[in-house]
Amino acid sequence: MRSLLSDLILQRLTELSDARPGTLNKRVYQALQQAIFDGSIAPGSRLPASRDLAKELDISRNTVLAAYEQLQAEGYIQTRTGSGTFVPADLPKDGVIADKTPLRCAPVRSHVSLSKRGSQLLTRTGVASHQWGAFMPGVPDVTKFPHDIWRKLQNRLSRRLPPEFLTYSRHGGCPQLQHALADYLRIARSVDCTADQILITAGTHQALDLLAKMLCDPGDVAWIEEPSYWGIRNVLTINGVDIQPVPVDENGLNPPDSPPQDRAPKLICVTPSHHYPLGSVMSLARRQKILAIASQQGSWVVEDDYDSEFRYSGSPIPALQGLSSDAPVIYIGTFSKTLYPAMRISYVVLPRPLASRLKIAHSELYRAGNGLTQLTLAEFIREGHYAAHIRRMRLLYGRRRNALIRLIGQELGPEFLCENSNAGLHLILSLPDSIDDVALSAELEQKKILTRPLSAYYLRPAPRRGLLLGYGCVPEEEIETAFRHIVECLRHRLQAGGAIPGADNRVLALQGDLPDPA
Ligand SMILES: Cc1ncc(COP(=O)(O)O)c(C=O)c1O
Repeated sequence: MRSLLSDLILQRLTELSDARPGTLNKRVYQALQQAIFDGSIAPGSRLPASRDLAKELDISRNTVLAAYEQLQAEGYIQTRTGSGTFVPADLPKDGVIADKTPLRCAPVRSHVSLSKRGSQLLTRTGVASHQWGAFMPGVPDVTKFPHDIWRKLQNRLSRRLPPEFLTYSRHGGCPQLQHALADYLRIARSVDCTADQILITAGTHQALDLLAKMLCDPGDVAWIEEPSYWGIRNVLTINGVDIQPVPVDENGLNPPDSPPQDRAPKLICVTPSHHYPLGSVMSLARRQKILAIASQQGSWVVEDDYDSEFRYSGSPIPALQGLSSDAPVIYIGTFSKTLYPAMRISYVVLPRPLASRLKIAHSELYRAGNGLTQLTLAEFIREGHYAAHIRRMRLLYGRRRNALIRLIGQELGPEFLCENSNAGLHLILSLPDSIDDVALSAELEQKKILTRPLSAYYLRPAPRRGLLLGYGCVPEEEIETAFRHIVECLRHRLQAGGAIPGADNRVLALQGDLPDPA
């Protein structure tokens, strides 16, 4: 004779096999769970021994044991040695529901409230939903990455990889990469450093987040460039830092001659080798002025040297960090532009008094890893592949940049080209004040042309309009077609506003100045 419980379980098993096919183990578990949920097996009840239930249900004992084990692990039943298996008497009443559906939670409200910080972050986001295609600024041509060389290096290194490279990273990152970077930065960027000052981070944002957390208290002031990269603005703000925009001119950040003593900045964030997004290079006089202010006021200068490897004429601009020994400069570089952004490897050169504490804080906050990638990258640099890749890419980007400049000249006129454009991965299409660059950029996005409106980089009302056009990730043969979409949308807007650019017979003074890189 079967017990009432066996009958119930059998009935549930049949229902379950129709509704939710699954393994028998799972269905027996679900049938018992439901019976406990809906009170068919009351709190405090004793369950039959596994052997007996298996016999009554005509299934294997292991199946019943597996179901019991799972229910026990989840707290639905308890086994008391010598007494048997029970449903706990104190199983909460509100955990037992009357109908036969599994436990239901109240639906998550559609208007969940975020923290003030979180809401503030979302009011002014900068990140684009697409990160590839004409004319996405700041994105390199990731399709040219030499995977074959990388793979060979990685295979070789992974054959005898010490365990330290697969566990959590030691403070600061892979020592081989720290050494390779110190050598590279001294030679290529005139950075004054040794390997022990280098901290490897997962991108510039992480580096900035660490600096904000470790060097600023909520309410502390940071000067940022106006206009500036949205990432700096947002990472500092979410850490409670009071960001103050300082105007940029053709010589870079132009700080006040006598900054207020009571609101001295903790951080002065600059892009001296290539201002983002306008492109100016910080003059020597400005560099000296900023270092003097920082020394007087006890500020840290944060130098974001994000893309200075790509300069298409003249010599590379040395880093601000190397201008004076013991300068209060924290230098940040990244492989996002020279290799590919998804690698998420960047680095910080820390002044010696900060180095060991910030490395520990970095491990504490982010639990770094990526050892094999970092080791491979160190070897990639040491064997000269990094320098060779940069050389190749500089030529390629130089050609793309020239092609875009020619088109702007031919189609619109030289006044549409922002003056400081001989470096980096983007240039700025200057627009008349009558053009709403945010609306134009949004319209272009509908046509799958990615641009960024210049005015969005300003914290205060923007004094000028423009579009950032990245040429890094657009093959030369696609530049013209993509650019024509911009011209078409812009012409409509100019016509609507009463100004029609007399494109065809304009310009080309610029063209003569632009020999294609050899
Ligand atoms: C000025 C500037 N700094 C830093 C970064 C971000 O670098 P990372 O990819 O290392 O976070 C960007 C990315 O576009 C940038 O434009």
